Amino acid sequence: MGERWYTESVIYCLDVETFQDSNGDGIGDFQGLISRLDYLTRLGINCLWLHPIHPTPGRDDGYDATDFYNVDPRLGTLGDFAELLHEAANRGIKVIIDLVVNHTSDEHPWFQSAVASKDSPYRDWYVWSDKEPADRFQGMVFPGEQAETWTYHRRARAWYYHRFYDFQPDLNFANPLVRAEIKKILAFWIQLGVAGFRMDAVPFIIELTEPGRTDSPMDFDYLSELRQHIQWRRGDAVLLAEANVEPEKLPEYFGDAGGSGNRIHMLFDFMLNGRLVLALARQNPEPVIDWLKTTPKLPPGGQWATFLRNHDEIDLSRLTAEQREDVFEQFGPDEDMRLYDRGIRRRLGPMLGGDRRRLEMAYSLQFTLRGTPVLRYGEEIGMGEDLSQVGRYAIRTPMQWSFAKNGGFSDAEPIRPVISKGDYAYDAVNVTAQRHDPGSLLAWFERMIRTLRESPEVGSGTCACVDKPLPAGVLAHRADGPTGSMLFLHNLGTEDAVVDLGDLAKDTHLPNDVFADQEYEPVGDFTELRLAGYGYRWIRLRRSSV
Ligand code: NOJ
Ligand code: CA
Repeated sequence: MGERWYTESVIYCLDVETFQDSNGDGIGDFQGLISRLDYLTRLGINCLWLHPIHPTPGRDDGYDATDFYNVDPRLGTLGDFAELLHEAANRGIKVIIDLVVNHTSDEHPWFQSAVASKDSPYRDWYVWSDKEPADRFQGMVFPGEQAETWTYHRRARAWYYHRFYDFQPDLNFANPLVRAEIKKILAFWIQLGVAGFRMDAVPFIIELTEPGRTDSPMDFDYLSELRQHIQWRRGDAVLLAEANVEPEKLPEYFGDAGGSGNRIHMLFDFMLNGRLVLALARQNPEPVIDWLKTTPKLPPGGQWATFLRNHDEIDLSRLTAEQREDVFEQFGPDEDMRLYDRGIRRRLGPMLGGDRRRLEMAYSLQFTLRGTPVLRYGEEIGMGEDLSQVGRYAIRTPMQWSFAKNGGFSDAEPIRPVISKGDYAYDAVNVTAQRHDPGSLLAWFERMIRTLRESPEVGSGTCACVDKPLPAGVLAHRADGPTGSMLFLHNLGTEDAVVDLGDLAKDTHLPNDVFADQEYEPVGDFTELRLAGYGYRWIRLRRSSV
């Protein structure tokens, strides 16, 4: 693997509590996850991103922590967590954890102390206003579920700020003590052996909120400070940030105006996510091509993390109303499939109508576009959603391992029901069935991920669309890096196509199909590249001798 491991990784994200229960209490835990590491090794992933593991009252699925220096006892002990890090490292898998420090739970002892008295040493750790702030009803993240961003606290006799739910009071990043504490938290987990952090809600962390202001100052330098801090502790540790902001604001998150990549290493490409889903809905790659051409240039070491599905709703808020409507019409026709008027609470399999060819094409496209792919647990077997669950919990059901009771997730009543009815029930979709079937989606993911790992130019090289007239629905892009060059063809439409890329023949010495949806005629002189409806081809153009 290259110097910058994160540019050539495949990240797998999961919530420990819904992955595998080991002690029969219905809740997934670290020991359960350890017992499934061999499965993940076979799948070919090499980095795990764990959703919040801290003690929590669980009102936002763990994104409301009460202690940043411990693990939720339901998942195991710190000892079990250390064991997980060790076992993962033995298999070449790095572990990064969710770092949710924009806010704490209102049950966190810091907040409890802060509300008890104005003289509490923790009072100034949160954001207060004595008067009702003029922006009380602005900046809500969860419309419909959240009434305001400033709430009056009777005991504290003041208004406190919360960008998210009212049980998630924001920490005050203007306070040097808070800034120092957060650094200590990062250092603590690095000392234990984590390889980095998925930083939650970064734009709100660096916002120095002032009551009544909707344009509070942003302190980007704090990101440089955090980066420097972790890098001294562990040279290869990474920050992977959630910052769903306008494209022109993205570069500042990666580095300062001097051009060095001295802040966040990797950002989720939310723009690409919306564009990919739109392109799939319209069966037209234009939205993706457009974004690839206009993506801001990243400083050295800066990297995108690509995804089709994460643990939240698919966020379509950066699309126009018309584009959003097209996506809703195709992938979220029922009101019940939508969330906050901006998103879709479904998994990809059912969204694509259970069409195996289309699903492969969609994932092949995500994994071959520039950046580091992130895969959500269960997608590799084509799990579905449970719309009877509230909000985002529809796509947070337990992993389906086998035909056994509760899909092999637990012997006991599971923390959340396993999908047990319909086409996506655990007796129809599970690991055991697919493990034995070389034609299964799981087997396909294994082959695809392994082929990607043989193609490091995708993660660490450049990515460019092939600028030639192509049949409707077809996207051609290439990846070039020190290790060689690859060409990728994807057909987002249903019509078979023939692609002419004759120009490529002259400077290519090794054309061969390394991965495709079916057997195709050899590449030849590139003038008649056939591509089935929803087909895809990965073609190696050259390989350097190193
Ligand atoms: C982003 C997380 O992905 C989401 O699940 C959570 O609700 C908010 N941040 C608040 O922490
Ligand atoms: Ca358990």
